[in-house]
Amino acid sequence: MSVTDRCNLRCFYCVPEEGLPFLGHKDVLSYEEITAIVQAGVRHGIQKVRITGGEPLVRKGIEELVASISALPEIKDLAMTTNGVRLASMAHDLKKAGLHRVNVSLDSMKPEVFEKITGRNHCQEVKEGIEAALDAGLTPVKINVVAVAGVNDSEFADFAKLTMDKPVSVRFIEYMPIGKNMHWAEDRSISSREIREIIEKQLGPMTPVTEHGPLDGPARRFSLPGAQGEIGFINAISGHFCSTCNRLRLTADGKVRPCLFSDKEIDVRSVLRSGGGPSDLDAVFAQAIAQKPRGLDSAKSEKPGCDRSMSSIGG
Ligand code: GTP
Ligand code: 5AD
Ligand code: SF4
Repeated sequence: MSVTDRCNLRCFYCVPEEGLPFLGHKDVLSYEEITAIVQAGVRHGIQKVRITGGEPLVRKGIEELVASISALPEIKDLAMTTNGVRLASMAHDLKKAGLHRVNVSLDSMKPEVFEKITGRNHCQEVKEGIEAALDAGLTPVKINVVAVAGVNDSEFADFAKLTMDKPVSVRFIEYMPIGKNMHWAEDRSISSREIREIIEKQLGPMTPVTEHGPLDGPARRFSLPGAQGEIGFINAISGHFCSTCNRLRLTADGKVRPCLFSDKEIDVRSVLRSGGGPSDLDAVFAQAIAQKPRGLDSAKSEKPGCDRSMSSIGG
């Protein structure tokens, strides 16, 4: 669930150079509306909720939303995907409000490369945010690294090495063509196989993690011998995981998206704001689930990608 389209970073693969018009306050779902939608999701069997943005920690009073969702006993996993800039000062309050864990985006550990990617000089704050999340017990802490050729490929082994000393999951995400004019080109996207080869050449072979749970995300998981943490690969381009995807997305302006790569959305905000009650929300969920595609149709040459920006979808 994206709770805001606003963000305090400007990652080149997410926000176009000309910027994006922000939603007005009235366009964004209120916390009461989001909670009502989650309750409808719970009636359809949803047990896992992820709060995203834009950047969720720039929305005022986010702890309030965390508290109201964590109070639902059916929610077994309540996570947040954040850029980490504000995490250091908020981690303990988020934990207290009932957040279970965080995924933090960090594409480079070098301040100058970080600034080149995000347009802002906040690398140190994000590193401190990761430490604060570990300290607060927002675990497992996962670090998302979008792999971009010529930008951060020299750091893959350094990221993998982080898992030796810290109980973090470092996940490499294949760069996806999300949004219009976002600099994506096939030769800038590095496949998970290539990333793995780069890491194994420097650090030796890694072994697959064999424990799996019903609430697992899309990452293929590995570990280095003696490591405290894990290395994951999100094969968004090279290996479609459509057949195992059971995810629905909610945009900040109240559209349910059955598939990341399809702009066919269902307007749940207008259902709520025209006086719809629980049974109308149930109908939205039934429609969204029925509309979830089985996968990209290679017969129609469908390829991953969509027009909306990642900052409005949430990841
Ligand atoms: P957990 O492993 O449960 O923590 O969740 P996650 O990895 O799915 O969450 P996160 O928000 O950190 O997402 C990481 C990346 O995976 C994002 O870039 C997502 O867009 C991508 N991703 C997640 N689900 C899908 C999916 O169904 N299809 C594609 N192509 N990418 C996805
Ligand atoms: N390709 C791959 N990952 C992306 N993210 C944002 N845009 C893209 C893209 N075009 C990542 C963010 C964050 C996660 C939710 O998605 O860096 O870690
Ligand atoms: Fe913000 Fe995340 Fe988009 Fe970067 S990828 S601009 S941190 S929403």
